[in-house]
Amino acid sequence: MKGSRNPLRTEARRFGNVSLIALMLLSLCILSLVRARFAPYGNGKTEKEIDTAGDELKPNFKRLTVEQPKETEKVKVEKEEVDVEEKSHTDSALASEVDLSKPTCFETSRRSDTCEARGEVRVEGEAQRIFVRPMTHEWKIKPYCRKHDAFAQSHVREWTLLPFDHVAPPPACTKNHSVPALLFSNGGFTGNLFHDYTDVLVPLFISSYHYQGEVQFLVSSLKSWWINKYILIFQQLSNYEIIDIDNEKDVHCFPQITAGLTFHKELGVDASKTPSDYSVVDFKKMLRTSLGLERETAAPSGDQWDIRRKPRLLIISRKNSRAFLNERMMVDMAMSLGFDVRVGEPDINTDVAKFARLVNSADVMIGVHGAGLTHMVFLPAGAVLIQVVPFGGLEWLARGTFKEPSAEMQVHYLEYMIQLDETTLSEQYPKDHPVLKDPYSIHKQGWDALRTIYLDKQNVRPHLGRLKNTLLEALKLLPHGRST
Ligand SMILES: *[C@@H]1O[C@H](CO)[C@@H](O)[C@H](O)[C@H]1NC(C)=O
Repeated sequence: MKGSRNPLRTEARRFGNVSLIALMLLSLCILSLVRARFAPYGNGKTEKEIDTAGDELKPNFKRLTVEQPKETEKVKVEKEEVDVEEKSHTDSALASEVDLSKPTCFETSRRSDTCEARGEVRVEGEAQRIFVRPMTHEWKIKPYCRKHDAFAQSHVREWTLLPFDHVAPPPACTKNHSVPALLFSNGGFTGNLFHDYTDVLVPLFISSYHYQGEVQFLVSSLKSWWINKYILIFQQLSNYEIIDIDNEKDVHCFPQITAGLTFHKELGVDASKTPSDYSVVDFKKMLRTSLGLERETAAPSGDQWDIRRKPRLLIISRKNSRAFLNERMMVDMAMSLGFDVRVGEPDINTDVAKFARLVNSADVMIGVHGAGLTHMVFLPAGAVLIQVVPFGGLEWLARGTFKEPSAEMQVHYLEYMIQLDETTLSEQYPKDHPVLKDPYSIHKQGWDALRTIYLDKQNVRPHLGRLKNTLLEALKLLPHGRST
């Protein structure tokens, strides 16, 4: 593909190139002299620096469409405080069932802290205070799974756990509950589909599935449209109506509370760390039950009609960025391969259950990297996800978001990498521009630069011949493909 340059133009440019190279060499010499003098540690730009830049980006990579600046030092300071408290936590006025030697609040992963308290728990919602007996220290927590992301955390209310005698007397209970409470925030990046699942719904499942519905959800920074959007899922996990806790004048009392959700991994569950070995497969099953999804596996059911059913391809469509510019031709090509093709364009108003049913009916789902691919949670086992990775060295982003979670979801994963001749970026920038020549140099400028250029300003036009090969590969992975 690279060998297709016009030889005449190459010839004509040679002279210009020679003088350009000479000029560059000269300025390099001058630069290295200057550097040697003024930057004794500087050693030019190394591979390691590029890697480091990538690493810096990684904690931020879930920000698909929501913006946020870099994390600040504040969170680190909080962590140090927690550590100090953990060490000095030697109080031994133990109630028999509560082990006070254990910290009330602890880190469940790099993403989240949770606090667990038993005994007498009184929640004063309007003041974001939780009184606990027995407990010896005061703790603070922001109950959202993105603890090192300052921007996300700036949209999450902080809660304080206080020993009972912090104020005397503690507020009296006006509502008593016999089941445990689970407190989490509807702030942060909620509203972006990917974040809805990876920051809240999957962690909520991890933290509540073992209660078998006998748990009271307390939601801070509650957005009612968001709760309504996922109400069927909440109803599956809890037998009680959600409490908009920030606006509660009542003092709600519980035998036990967990503040903050447990995070394991992106869109994933580590079954070995759950109370009863449940996994993402159980999460998907819970989703199927709550949303009325029929297909557990991608295999045809065996009834006469279904056996003849064509494998269904769902194209996740986008309009404003990372759009398929030749979608119509993609549809025709896929139909010629024997697919029953559907195109879906989910947005923030999309009815969850309705779109979930469409995804669940698909055998292959294809889409450009973006929050819409989160719908993979509704794909039946044995289905195929094809992630189209935009141009710009974004393999790591594709891997961390949707590639890695796919195996546990029992979804086959294929990738289609957008090449230079398939991206609109090659029309927006001259051939030699770093955006096209050296994407990592753009990554090094930070997440905002990367997002603006490679995610917001890029549309794609997949090469139909190449794409066809990927779809044929997907067909081979399907039970349909094997039986015919
Ligand atoms: C809640 O329970 C406590 C302790 O059993 C009791 O003293 C209080 O009256 C109860 N409050 C309500 C509103 O039922």
